[in-house]
Amino acid sequence: DLAGDLPPHRVVPRSHRTPLPIRVPPHFVTDPATYSYPRYLEAKKTVDARALNRRVWSRFVDELEASSAPPVRVLEVGGGVGATVERVVEALEPRTTDALHYTLVDIEPDNVEAARGGLRAWAERRGYNVSGGTPQVWTGGPVEVTVRFVSADLFDVAGAYEGPPHDAVIAQAVLDLLSIPDALGALAPLLAPEGLWYLPIHFDGVTALEPQVDSDLDARVERLFHESMADPSLDGERAGAHCGRRLLRHLHDSDAALLEAGSSDWVVVPQDGGYPGDEAYFLHHILHFIETELTGHPELDAEAFAEWVATRRRQVETGGLIYIAHQLDALARHR
Ligand SMILES: C[S@@+](CC[C@H](N)C(=O)[O-])C[C@H]1O[C@@H](n2cnc3c(N)ncnc32)[C@H](O)[C@@H]1O
Repeated sequence: DLAGDLPPHRVVPRSHRTPLPIRVPPHFVTDPATYSYPRYLEAKKTVDARALNRRVWSRFVDELEASSAPPVRVLEVGGGVGATVERVVEALEPRTTDALHYTLVDIEPDNVEAARGGLRAWAERRGYNVSGGTPQVWTGGPVEVTVRFVSADLFDVAGAYEGPPHDAVIAQAVLDLLSIPDALGALAPLLAPEGLWYLPIHFDGVTALEPQVDSDLDARVERLFHESMADPSLDGERAGAHCGRRLLRHLHDSDAALLEAGSSDWVVVPQDGGYPGDEAYFLHHILHFIETELTGHPELDAEAFAEWVATRRRQVETGGLIYIAHQLDALARHR
């Protein structure tokens, strides 16, 4: 079994921590006064679904199906509320794979609890019989699925692991928060020879908000927001805003064989005066990240910045904001 209750020792950066207790009414969309990180991850699902690079994903699923004798073993770190579990199961259902052992690790217990409840409901809606807590076992469908939920720091999990090796390690939108060589180095021993790294949605240095509010201030906010993603406690090792390209370079320079790479930009555009799904909330949460990081920044006039945030929020509420973030996906084979 993976280490269950090890204490987290890595600090999650300010903008990525679960910010406040969950007190968000179900239909709460505009001008949020409280924020829920699990709700942000739920709202992000439809944005990611459009963004994920199809070529990288198809190659991953083909290679995963071909990878080994059943069960296929997948380890996902920083798995959040379980979006990728759903995606992997959906992709394998029509294929020859008939058994999947999936381990979802996340440092935030709230995310893991949301994943456990959300995946149970999702699997039951798809006709699976679901039993157990950890592991959760899904039977009666095209794939026999076992999902193990681990609330711990991925470095502690990697250090304590003694089980069978995995056919794939997944980290989606996670390596921006860590030192890439440290994280991949810690996880590599958990991969089988020829195992797969599937590493999608890694931010790569472009945030665009349209329409312009004030071109100078827009540019300054973007620059300072990107600068805030670096973490001095990691001695410049954390790639921050340039995670995507650093990840590709790191894989290229390492023993791993880079199989596919491609872009997975988030593009959120209004439709009929509103946004699909819960994407208005997603946009408010992105603005919340920017506001939290930059309020009080010495290079920003406090009043002008507060007015900038208020204008951006009004643009969300009136269905006028377009948001783009450039990101990259990578698939590599461990050697
Ligand atoms: C941006 S979210 C991405 C979540 C999910 N992969 C997705 O794309 O929806 C980053 C996740 O990594 C988790 N995380 C950050 N540092 C971690 C660590 N050291 N060990 C395990 N999880 C970590 C956070 O709690 C958060 O859920």
